[in-house]
Amino acid sequence: MALDDELALIGIRIAREAGELAQRRRAEGVRIAATKSGVADIVTAADREVEALIRARLAEVRPDDGFFGEESDAAQGTSGITWVVDPIDGTVNYAYGIPAYAVSIAAVSGEPDPERWTALAGAVYAPATDELFHATRGGGAWLDRGRDVQPERLAVNPGPWAAGALLATGFGYDPATHAGDLARLATVMPLARDIRRIGSASLDLASVAAGRLDGYFERGLNPWDHAAGVLLVTEAGGRVGGSPGDRPGKTMTIAAGGDLYTALVEAIAIH
Ligand code: IPD
Ligand code: CA
Repeated sequence: MALDDELALIGIRIAREAGELAQRRRAEGVRIAATKSGVADIVTAADREVEALIRARLAEVRPDDGFFGEESDAAQGTSGITWVVDPIDGTVNYAYGIPAYAVSIAAVSGEPDPERWTALAGAVYAPATDELFHATRGGGAWLDRGRDVQPERLAVNPGPWAAGALLATGFGYDPATHAGDLARLATVMPLARDIRRIGSASLDLASVAAGRLDGYFERGLNPWDHAAGVLLVTEAGGRVGGSPGDRPGKTMTIAAGGDLYTALVEAIAIH
């Protein structure tokens, strides 16, 4: 089996198991364990437990790979492959009982730096809806809805957007950045039919891949928020970038299909 496919199967299996654990812990009751960068940036005991499970499972089957996750220290590997993991993306939703949260797992090659890596495989699993979005480099993006249903191949909405686009965005946790985010939203609004703030970047990107959103943009994402989702969008025929000429990342992430991508880049370049 090709390496990308092998990595994809590992990511898919572990994302499912991890999502099931998150969902079980959610049903038992969630406790906020700590705040991180600010009062809005929370971590629950489940975030840590789910990351520990993912890390342990990866170490069992791929002991030479590196690890780069949200809730624990990064470790360099020797194989050239690194796993980029968000155990619960959408933690605020998770804490409040809103079902839009997901486990995001990507396998990347090269330096574990989003400016330089190549994403080989990615899985985003939303346990509340039992939807598993996955992609491999060159192998397309897919949605599995439960074990007995045939996987569905994903494609971004191609446009054109004369009639307005359904867009999503997010605002991060740092209040100092909110005025700029709102000004940017005002610039983009003329392109929009409406705006969503779903609260999980990996599901925003998966939704663009699935044609449930026409486009998405957000400043301030961390590598684990977008590592798997970016591959989903590009494998579904969409485009993803950052500030003009840059790769997606902390400064900006823009994802869309067709001419909407260019329109978003132009609108966002003003801010
Ligand atoms: C957050 C979510 C949210 C986005 C934040 C992320 P977390 O991830 O993806 O939608 O707006 O920037 O940090 O904290 O729930 O893993
Ligand atoms: Ca998280």
